[in-house]
Amino acid sequence: MTVKLTWLGHGTFFIDTGEHKLLVDPFLTDNPAASTTVDAIEADFILVSHGHGDHVGDLSAAAEKTGATVIANFEIANWAGAQGMTVHPQHIGGGYNHPFGYLKFTQAHHGSGLPDGSYGGNPAGFLITFNNGKKLYLACDTGLFGDMALIGEEGVDVAVLPIGDNFTMGPDDAVRAVKLIKPGHALPAHYNTWGLIAQDADAWAKRVETETEAKATAWKPGDTIDL
Ligand code: NI
Ligand code: MN
Repeated sequence: MTVKLTWLGHGTFFIDTGEHKLLVDPFLTDNPAASTTVDAIEADFILVSHGHGDHVGDLSAAAEKTGATVIANFEIANWAGAQGMTVHPQHIGGGYNHPFGYLKFTQAHHGSGLPDGSYGGNPAGFLITFNNGKKLYLACDTGLFGDMALIGEEGVDVAVLPIGDNFTMGPDDAVRAVKLIKPGHALPAHYNTWGLIAQDADAWAKRVETETEAKATAWKPGDTIDL
């Protein structure tokens, strides 16, 4: 079955496996780049990479609307659980066979403080092996790190990388990340939401296709690709 990955703007994604619906880092209400609203969201699972407001801004609204299970690091899972959300805690290096596939938490170099000042543990990325065998790496918010090569050793079909600079990798380091991960297809995220992270994604995608073996797509919020 084809897995469909939709970029909802900034660091927010929707994944439809045909059997299950996943929402990643729900931030739509105050997101100038959002392609949809929390009222339109369906989800069985909500994945949270870290505690920053531009990743959990609509977590409680989305969890309440959908009744989805929130999958996050131990600290954020406890925080969400204390608010009445159904949670599944994981942590970096740990994988679990969920109904949609095998989800492993990967390292990310970033922060994870929650909007109310609570401790949000360490930030993460996600490596998901769907039931159709396709492997998706969502780097989420991170700087470049050499161990992306270890993630790449698993055979990544699609990698989504931040290119916004300032808070995360910029375009140059994101090209280096593609060289380490060696995905079949690379896509950008976490840029153009605000002027502070304005980037030329078309230019980045051209560079990726010139300097690496990967296909690259400068998608827009609301666009969907098949895995
Ligand atoms: Ni962040
Ligand atoms: Mn962010």
